[in-house]
Amino acid sequence: MDIYESQKGYFQRAYQTGEHGWPVTGPSAFVVRFLKKFQSEKQSARLLDIGCGEGRHSGLFANAGYEAVGLDYQALALARAARFFEGDRSRLHFVRGDVFHLPFVPVSFDVLIDYGCLHHVRRRDTQAYLKSVVPLLNPGGYFLLSCFSEHFKHHPDEVRTRDWLVHDGHYDRFFRRDSFKHIFGKDFEILEIEEEREDLYAFYHVLMRKNTATVSPA
Ligand SMILES: C[S@@+](CC[C@H](N)C(=O)[O-])C[C@H]1O[C@@H](n2cnc3c(N)ncnc32)[C@H](O)[C@@H]1O
Repeated sequence: MDIYESQKGYFQRAYQTGEHGWPVTGPSAFVVRFLKKFQSEKQSARLLDIGCGEGRHSGLFANAGYEAVGLDYQALALARAARFFEGDRSRLHFVRGDVFHLPFVPVSFDVLIDYGCLHHVRRRDTQAYLKSVVPLLNPGGYFLLSCFSEHFKHHPDEVRTRDWLVHDGHYDRFFRRDSFKHIFGKDFEILEIEEEREDLYAFYHVLMRKNTATVSPA
């Protein structure tokens, strides 16, 4: 079976049981810090939360007065997100869709968030991901990203010979601090990279800003 097919099943099971390894509610401190600064810069904005899961980040922005869209390909995740959200639903929209076929017009968002979707995209599909995601963001818009760090381990004895692995029916990719410049540097200025480590778990949180002018190839 294609890895993306079995990965869909993995996420479906995760939301059926509600027992998965990522937080259900409560936004990441990195995102909360960004929001505080962003509020003094822009009073009105549109945000897209890619792979929004149970909506902890799209909900945060909707409650701060922004128009927020949470996208996920798991209907169950979106149903849980709608249930968990406490606030005014008029600014929060949930859309079922796939990151490789995003149903939005280009340059229609001021902020993109990807907390935990890119690291389930195969290395060889990175360009397809960028082609789908990057055009949606306005020039000067922000991109907040969180991915597995190279220091992440599922168990203490885990030894990896490459920067990805397939286990439990899904794909995980592990990033180095310099991966982000390599992947996003053509379109973005990298403003901040923070590594969060707790026991075996390690994630990079990255804040980027989309260039206002694209450099034409020579
Ligand atoms: C690790 S979870 C993180 C959820 C959420 N962003 C959070 O931080 O709580 C990754 C999410 O990405 C979604 N996802 C994975 N691949 C996707 C794809 N190709 N298109 C849309 N969503 C996807 C999964 O369904 C899952 O909800």
